[in-house]
Amino acid sequence: MKNILVIQGGGRAKGNTAQLIDSFVAGAKEAGHSVEVISLIKNEVKGCLGCNACRYGKACVQKDAFHDMIPKIKNADCIVFASPLYFWTVSARIKAFIERFYCIAEEDSNPPLGRYETYPIKDCALLMTSADHFFWTFEQAVSYYQFALVNYIGFKDKGMLLAGGCGDTNGKPQIDKTDYLEKAYMFGKHLYS
Ligand SMILES: Cc1cc2nc3c(=O)[nH]c(=O)nc-3n(C[C@H](O)[C@H](O)[C@H](O)COP(=O)(O)O)c2cc1C
Repeated sequence: MKNILVIQGGGRAKGNTAQLIDSFVAGAKEAGHSVEVISLIKNEVKGCLGCNACRYGKACVQKDAFHDMIPKIKNADCIVFASPLYFWTVSARIKAFIERFYCIAEEDSNPPLGRYETYPIKDCALLMTSADHFFWTFEQAVSYYQFALVNYIGFKDKGMLLAGGCGDTNGKPQIDKTDYLEKAYMFGKHLYS
C-alpha cells in the first residue's frame, strides 16, 4: 500500500481535472492505496520569493498553505500533479507549488552536473486536461514535467495521462464524453502493479 498525494491545480470544483482526479483516486483506492487530494484553490500556495532565507537554515518566510503541506509531501510515496492546460503549460498554481520545493531542498556536497541540491525522492505522475487535442497540445507541459520534476528535482516518473479534447471552460466539462475517466481509473488502479 502506498501513500499518494494528489495536488489539484485546476480551478473548477467539478471541472474536467476534478473528474479526472476522482476517477484516478477511485482506482488507486480500489488497489488499496491511501490517497489525499489537496486543492490549491482551497489551500493557496504562493510562488517562491527568492529571498534565500531557506538557504541559511530558516523556514520559508511565507506562511501560507505550503507550510502544512511539507510533512505530507515528505510522507508521500507518490505525488500526482493534476492540472488543466493553461496557455500550453501547467497552471500557475501548480508552478507556484513546485517553486516552493526550493525550501525543502537539502544540501548536496557532490551533486551531479546540472543539479545544485537534493530533494526528498518520490514517485510522481501527471494528470492533465485540455480543450485542444493536437499532437503538440501538451508538449510544453510534458517538457516542464520532465525537466523540472524528473530530471532536476529527481522524481521517479510513474506516467502521465494527458486528456485532450475535454471542452473549453466556456461550457460544461466534457470529459465524461471521452474515455479518459476510465483510463484514469485504470491508471490509479495499476500505478503500482
Ligand atoms: C486561462 C485558460 C487557459 C487555457 N489554455 C488552454 C490552452 O493553452 N490549450 C488548451 O487546449 N486549452 C486551454 N484551456 C482550456 C482548459 O485547459 C480546459 O477546458 C480544461 O479541461 C479545464 O479544466 P477544468 O475543467 O478542470 O477547469 C484554457 C482555459 C483557461 C481558463
